[in-house]
Amino acid sequence: MATAAATTLFRVQLLGSVFILFSIFQSESSTSPDYSPNIQLPRSIPLTLSVTDYGAVGDGVHYDTQYIQAAIDSCSAAVTRGSGGCRVTFPSGGTYLTATVFLKSGVILDVQEGAQILGGTKLEDYPAEESRWYVVLAEDAADVGITGGGEINGQGLMFVERFDERKNVMVSWNRTGACLGDECRPRLVGFIRCKNVRVWNVWLTEPAYWCLHIVQCYNTSIQDVSIYGDFNTPNNDGIDIDDSNNTVITRCNIDTGDDAICPKTYAGPLYNLTATNCWIRTKSSAIKLGSASWFDFKGLVFDNITIVESHRGLGLQIRDGGNVSDITFSNININTRYYDPSWWGRAEPIYVTTCPRHAKSKVGLISALSFVNITATSENGIFLSGSGGGLLSNLKFINVNLTYTRWTNYADGLADYRPGCEGLVNHGTAGIIMEHIEGLELKNVDMRWSEDQSSRWNNPLDFRPSTVNNISLLNFHSGLYQQ
Ligand SMILES: *[C@@H]1O[C@H](CO)[C@@H](O)[C@H](O)[C@H]1NC(C)=O
Ligand SMILES: *[C@@H]1O[C@H](CO)[C@@H](O)[C@H](O)[C@H]1NC(C)=O
Ligand SMILES: *[C@@H]1O[C@H](CO)[C@@H](O)[C@H](O)[C@H]1NC(C)=O
Ligand SMILES: *[C@@H]1O[C@H](CO)[C@@H](O)[C@H](O)[C@H]1NC(C)=O
Ligand SMILES: *[C@@H]1O[C@H](CO)[C@@H](O)[C@H](O)[C@H]1NC(C)=O
Ligand SMILES: *[C@@H]1O[C@H](CO)[C@@H](O)[C@H](O)[C@H]1NC(C)=O
Ligand SMILES: *[C@@H]1O[C@H](CO)[C@@H](O)[C@H](O)[C@H]1NC(C)=O
Ligand SMILES: *[C@@H]1O[C@H](CO)[C@@H](O)[C@H](O)[C@H]1NC(C)=O
Ligand SMILES: *[C@@H]1O[C@H](CO)[C@@H](O)[C@H](O)[C@H]1NC(C)=O
Repeated sequence: MATAAATTLFRVQLLGSVFILFSIFQSESSTSPDYSPNIQLPRSIPLTLSVTDYGAVGDGVHYDTQYIQAAIDSCSAAVTRGSGGCRVTFPSGGTYLTATVFLKSGVILDVQEGAQILGGTKLEDYPAEESRWYVVLAEDAADVGITGGGEINGQGLMFVERFDERKNVMVSWNRTGACLGDECRPRLVGFIRCKNVRVWNVWLTEPAYWCLHIVQCYNTSIQDVSIYGDFNTPNNDGIDIDDSNNTVITRCNIDTGDDAICPKTYAGPLYNLTATNCWIRTKSSAIKLGSASWFDFKGLVFDNITIVESHRGLGLQIRDGGNVSDITFSNININTRYYDPSWWGRAEPIYVTTCPRHAKSKVGLISALSFVNITATSENGIFLSGSGGGLLSNLKFINVNLTYTRWTNYADGLADYRPGCEGLVNHGTAGIIMEHIEGLELKNVDMRWSEDQSSRWNNPLDFRPSTVNNISLLNFHSGLYQQ
């Protein structure tokens, strides 16, 4: 794409730019990449570079990739030379179509309110390796971020092969062999092996696959981020956090088809994740640990979260041998209902499972979970299922108010062990189903049943006695109510 005409345009724009200091820099850097002490920027004065000064047209038709990348590279070079940070702005009113752009250390993308970054929809818009298919990607970077009040849009609807109210059928870029299966689409924004990541005040919309992906990062803050995916698109996850430590998510709004906040462990443990003050709607799990769970999860807090019309509320789907401990869910309002059973989820407000994904998989242990101040209105009960060799231990439910009623016409009476394990099996509906548990405390738990549906519910508490030990009930109520 780097034509002579484009290069000329780039130079002309630079000469006409008000960033005189910076244009000196730019021409200097093309001849000698090393730091020259003659041209020293004052320290600690953050720079601001506009992609339009680098040639971006923002018409939504022509690719602005090379101009955006040139601005990022200049910004990063300035940081290396001592500028105290640098921002690349996308001015309001523009729609900046782009192939993958690589965010570099010290650079903040400032997508202004009224500006939109639009992800390309062609395979050749993305790097060769499937693991790097993102519209915006930071790798091995520090002090990076995205903000500005604008939007990054993945044009996910362009990846729909057939629209279906139950679940869309999506295209899969698997012909090259770079990716196998039916989940071969680009993600929207990725931070891989980064330190000090900040994403705040930005809209992330219409991802083709996952939306915001944090991989092996340390110290990440995600704040005031709105995520809108398509409600019928599979794998339209909100925020996926893999193998990362010290992550804080606050004031997020997520409305999307698949899991909304989803910590996973593939190659290392995940410690210290906090998510607070969020609003979530999803056709799958609002909060989900797993199912990728090869390493440990420890020290997670979810507080003050509202979950509406979701297929599952708080979920632990542990399948690969990683252990989970010290997890707190507090002050959470949940509303869960049935959707098409091709989606994982069976309207459970709370779902805690550990079982081997395959016959040869290891089984993880889950311990020290607390659910405090939870109110739920749901079409199904709570599902707590360990497995042989994978006990659930030391679970606490304190101040929990459960209202069970039906309002959709989907069939009930199925227990969902997917993925793997026993799959979907027929099972009576109960207030709380329990299997393979050692130590469960219910304190101030109030369960109310809608009278008209009561014949479909078997038991408030349904457990397999030989696998459940040490249940303590203190101030536990269960009864019918009239609608
Ligand atoms: C490619 O994806 C399609 C679904 O979009 C799937 O049916 C097919 O099996 C996949 N082929 C390979 C080789 O992964
Ligand atoms: C973590 O990031 C915050 C800003 O988001 C910063 O203030 C803090 O110094 C960082 N901590 C470390 C250990 O780098
Ligand atoms: C997270 O912390 C654990 C425990 O200290 C460590 O093993 C792991 O490498 C850390 N991961 C990252 C991405 O910092
Ligand atoms: C997790 O947080 C605790 C408490 O703040 C801290 O002591 C610990 O070092 C953190 N773990 C990692 C891996 O950063
Ligand atoms: C809970 O989160 C909502 C936003 O979803 C916020 O308006 C409210 O102030 C938060 N409550 C507390 C006690 O922090
Ligand atoms: C989980 O805990 C068990 C028992 O302590 C241990 O054998 C296993 O190695 C742990 N799993 C991981 C991934 O560390
Ligand atoms: C639960 O709610 C009570 C009453 O509102 C409050 O005092 C307590 O701090 C809450 N607990 C947690 C863990 O937020
Ligand atoms: C439980 O929740 C229901 C429905 O939200 C509400 O009407 C009822 O007052 C709550 N009960 C308690 C004890 O909080
Ligand atoms: C029963 O479980 C509780 C925690 O839920 C624990 O404190 C207690 O020691 C257990 N009792 C026995 C006899 O195992």
